[in-house]
Amino acid sequence: MELLPLLLACSLLFTVAAPARDITSVCASQIRDFPHRNSSGLHLTLHHPQSPCSPAPLPSDLPFSTVLSHDDARAAHLASRLATNNDAPPRRPTSLRKKAAGGRFDDSLATVPLSPGMSIGVGNYVTQLGLGTPATSYAMVVDTGSSLTWLQCSPCVVSCHRQAGPLYDPRASSTYATVPCSASQCDELQAATLNPSACSVSNVCVYQASYGDSSFSVGYLSRDTVSFGSSSFPGFYYGCGQDNEGLFGRSAGLIGLARNKLSLLSQLAPSLGNSFSYCLPTSASTGYLTIGSYNPGQYSYTPMASSSLDASLYFVTLSGMSVGGSPLAVSPSEYSSLPTIIDSGTVITRLPTSVYSALSKAVAAAMGGAARAPAFSILDTCFEGQASRLGVLAVGMAFAGGATLKLPTRNVLIDVDDSTTCLAFAPTDSTAIIGNMQQQTFSVVYDVARSRIGFAAGGCS
Ligand SMILES: *[C@@H]1O[C@H](CO)[C@@H](O)[C@H](O)[C@H]1NC(C)=O
Repeated sequence: MELLPLLLACSLLFTVAAPARDITSVCASQIRDFPHRNSSGLHLTLHHPQSPCSPAPLPSDLPFSTVLSHDDARAAHLASRLATNNDAPPRRPTSLRKKAAGGRFDDSLATVPLSPGMSIGVGNYVTQLGLGTPATSYAMVVDTGSSLTWLQCSPCVVSCHRQAGPLYDPRASSTYATVPCSASQCDELQAATLNPSACSVSNVCVYQASYGDSSFSVGYLSRDTVSFGSSSFPGFYYGCGQDNEGLFGRSAGLIGLARNKLSLLSQLAPSLGNSFSYCLPTSASTGYLTIGSYNPGQYSYTPMASSSLDASLYFVTLSGMSVGGSPLAVSPSEYSSLPTIIDSGTVITRLPTSVYSALSKAVAAAMGGAARAPAFSILDTCFEGQASRLGVLAVGMAFAGGATLKLPTRNVLIDVDDSTTCLAFAPTDSTAIIGNMQQQTFSVVYDVARSRIGFAAGGCS
């Protein structure tokens, strides 16, 4: 693991990852990496977390089994959000970590549960965001499963990890302001982060964003001008993180795109429109994130569903699946037997166990003579050989209202090593999730204004 020990001296935080020259030239051709705004919205480049062209790539030797174990932690975290009993008393953070010296960081800033963490960035795609005046650009993971945007923030009173590029320094921005505890945005934090806000001794609102038991950011709720290329938006609310655990890929922070008022989407919606679309690329291609208007004709749509258990996540209703055109041998009601989230940061799609079992059987039958291989981590339908040599396997996913995802082999099977490929789905008994392996290279639109989600093939360059 490349994570640095918790209480690293701040001087180390300015280490800049130097991209190798050969990678620079490989990437130059595929990077349209200039954010720009035109009449069809604000256009950003998205990078796969392991793309060599990402501004903050994961370590290239990261084992896939590690990716899968983090993916399981993320899926469990999303499921636990829906399992939370709303009548339960507010969670009381237990561990306390106090700033040893200096005293600028009061106790209320250090009260989220602690454990060594590294989950946030493993499955999340990366883009660049500008912040401050003058603007500096930061590599940020993009997350549809959370709302608050935050980034590591000087002086990193408790902890920052090494990140690509310089650390955000509020003192260097002429437009920076902290948000007082009395602001309505401070009250909004409970719904945005599912953790209570706190108030510092100097009356600054303190946020606590946590992502399962393994990663979190705590710091000051702040305002500054956010920018993408030449488009800037003053007065953007975000977190200036003073204690950050879990940014695995040297990103500076996280962009929240879920449905709370504090999310980047909600804050930019008055200027751009309340919708976003993306194409999640493979590690060898480049994708996009567009905020604002989109071309409605190309998509097939399903209603954006809601759940009273968590108003900020994006829910869909799965209505059917097929392998090679034949429907699975499962009762239609099984497809929607669990709440189903669509999420950009979960890698492997989780299906209700009965649906998964039928899919596994149908895929095994469709694979004909391919020899079975042992399970790999959470993937239990594995075959000897690489996906590209094992023939064509088409899986269809249908959603309420008629939206479909017609998945070609590359969205169905994943090579876990040189001689084994596995079905890239897993079973769950709690919360079903449409993951990013299955969304890769499709255009997906989240039209919050019209409460619908759309899919279209062929979105990444
Ligand atoms: C806006 O920019 C996007 C991305 O570069 C491009 O695909 C689109 O055609 C542009 N739209 C207009 C109306 O120029």
